[in-house]
Amino acid sequence: MSTKTIDTHFVKEIYNDNEMINYYTDIVYNIGLFKCEKILFDKYLNFQDKILDIGCGAGRTTIPLHSIGYRDIVGLDIAEEMIKSAKSLNNNIEFVVGDATNLKYDNSTFDKAIFSFNGLMLIPKRERRLKALKEINRVLKKGGYFIFSTPYLDNKLESKFWISEKVKWKQGNNDKRLYEFGDLLMDDLNIEDIFIHIPKISEVKECLNEAGFKVIDYIPRINICLEDEVIEEQLDDGLFWIAKK
Ligand SMILES: C[S@@+](CC[C@H](N)C(=O)[O-])C[C@H]1O[C@@H](n2cnc3c(N)ncnc32)[C@H](O)[C@@H]1O
Repeated sequence: MSTKTIDTHFVKEIYNDNEMINYYTDIVYNIGLFKCEKILFDKYLNFQDKILDIGCGAGRTTIPLHSIGYRDIVGLDIAEEMIKSAKSLNNNIEFVVGDATNLKYDNSTFDKAIFSFNGLMLIPKRERRLKALKEINRVLKKGGYFIFSTPYLDNKLESKFWISEKVKWKQGNNDKRLYEFGDLLMDDLNIEDIFIHIPKISEVKECLNEAGFKVIDYIPRINICLEDEVIEEQLDDGLFWIAKK
């Protein structure tokens, strides 16, 4: 178990790991856009939009969106190695290293922003996630949409794991590296301690409102559509959020 502080540097290190890079590079072409993403993007994105794809990884969403016809798209990720890999897959797209909590763009630059595959919830601490939402709101034009996905706690609270977590947090016996109830450290792809925050729906709504967004919709992924079986097995029952500036 690592004793490192869970902060931006910690997240960057995890997503710069070779195993992580290989996984996210493979899924650009092995998986590409999820069917449910395609449905939402068809509905909310226009070909002429200027789009910011935040937490783009190796380009799983950026590259197919660009080839479908969304030509004015920028992929941004905090992990330098992800951006290197994305550039090696497609050097016609602008891929940049950047942090969602401190975007280097002028106010009202983009028509749409996306943060897919639960990326926003990889940011430790509510105040930092709120900072990211405020930054995304700032760089969007008025009326611009932000589309993202999150897992959610509301349908997990009755599970053994979360019941016992709740008791631990109440009694102060929680993992002291974590900040909030809902924080989780998982092992996957031979990598230890991958951080994710599982929010309650109310928390996401509150943060979106505080950041200046209006919640247009939040839809369980499985209510949009089911993915092919192999992909379905790898996915959690998360929510897709549509917010408007
Ligand atoms: C779960 S991965 C998803 C990657 C890609 N969107 C996909 O679906 O394949 C989330 C990505 O968010 C990035 N990320 C985490 N925190 C970030 C931040 N503060 N700013 C920008 N990117 C961030 C990670 O480096 C990682 O590449």
